[in-house]
Amino acid sequence: MSNQDRPLLLEVHNLRTYFFLDEGTVRAVDGADFVVYRGQTLGVVGESGCGKSVTARSILRIVPPPGRIVEGKILYHRVSKNGGSQVAETIDLTALDPRGREIRRIRGAEISMVFQEPMTSLSPVHTIGNQIMEAIMLHQNVTKEEAREKAIEMLDRVGMPQPQRTVDRYPHQLSGGMRQRAMIAMALSCHPALLIADEPTTALDVTTEAQILKLMRELQRDLGMAIMFITHNLGVIAQMTEDVIVMYLGKVVEATDVDTLFYNPKHPYTQALLRSIPRVGRKSRERLHVIPGWVPDPYSVPEGCPFHPRCDQVIRGVCEEVEPPYVEVEPGHQVRCHLYAR
Ligand SMILES: Nc1ncnc2c1ncn2[C@@H]1O[C@H](COP(=O)(O)OP(=O)(O)O)[C@@H](O)[C@H]1O
Ligand SMILES: [Mg+2]
Repeated sequence: MSNQDRPLLLEVHNLRTYFFLDEGTVRAVDGADFVVYRGQTLGVVGESGCGKSVTARSILRIVPPPGRIVEGKILYHRVSKNGGSQVAETIDLTALDPRGREIRRIRGAEISMVFQEPMTSLSPVHTIGNQIMEAIMLHQNVTKEEAREKAIEMLDRVGMPQPQRTVDRYPHQLSGGMRQRAMIAMALSCHPALLIADEPTTALDVTTEAQILKLMRELQRDLGMAIMFITHNLGVIAQMTEDVIVMYLGKVVEATDVDTLFYNPKHPYTQALLRSIPRVGRKSRERLHVIPGWVPDPYSVPEGCPFHPRCDQVIRGVCEEVEPPYVEVEPGHQVRCHLYAR
């Protein structure tokens, strides 16, 4: 399907989210542009500190102070049912009061999030069941008994063993993998249009990770939701996503479909990330390629292209001075690099 035929769910335009600290301003997200299509998965990759989580938090309007969105638009295309007809509306999430009614209606019900560490969204003092029921009753007009039934159904759906009993357990009585399932059950209990998954399996062993990824794909298919899947694991990207954006220092440096990302990456940063993946069958003596240098500290982002000090294809006299434009190199494939700007 060409991009024009795919219905848009979320459009992020020139998003800038800064933290104003005594030491200086951290430009955590610094002009990010991307789209999420309805029912599809967008992968978000990049090294640690590149602004992936702050982008996610900006969408849900849960950026902690002293951080705030200073520029940009986040357009959410809502389709709701009103009687027999569908109502389409577009809401700029950046314009909402972060504590207001409108964002609270969206958060958890239309857009929900799962984190790497389940205890950031599960309360230790309430049972799993009560927490899922609370999410359901906040957004749906159901009785307590119905909410409990739905909670058990959801726990069953995410592969929780003995959901009738687990529903009355506390988070600390469950293993890490089971807590992750409980968090996913809670996030999906209201059938969101978009699930933001921020490194949801990073802390798990590979077997549990594989189970959770399979589960997320099944639930996505059955519920028709879109997923924004944040990870630094390119293997997970290959398995899970249709489209990918690569972030570096608060900017999207490349955006394309997943096949093109692996077979025809354009940005030197993307190429370096791909070379850094260990390959099956690689001789142990052969050195793993690592990207030279490290992500600069966020107070002192380099002039010009922020990747130039680490880039193996730097154009002297250009990349150190001029910030590269974001250009479309082929339909649906954008790159922020001087190599393609001519
Ligand atoms: N609460 C905060 N206060 C100050 N700086 C923050 C805060 N959260 C994130 N940052 C900074 O914003 C930048 C992007 O962080 P983050 O989005 O968490 O990166 P990623 O998820 O890609 O690893 C980093 O430099 C980080 O230190
Ligand atoms: Mg993060």
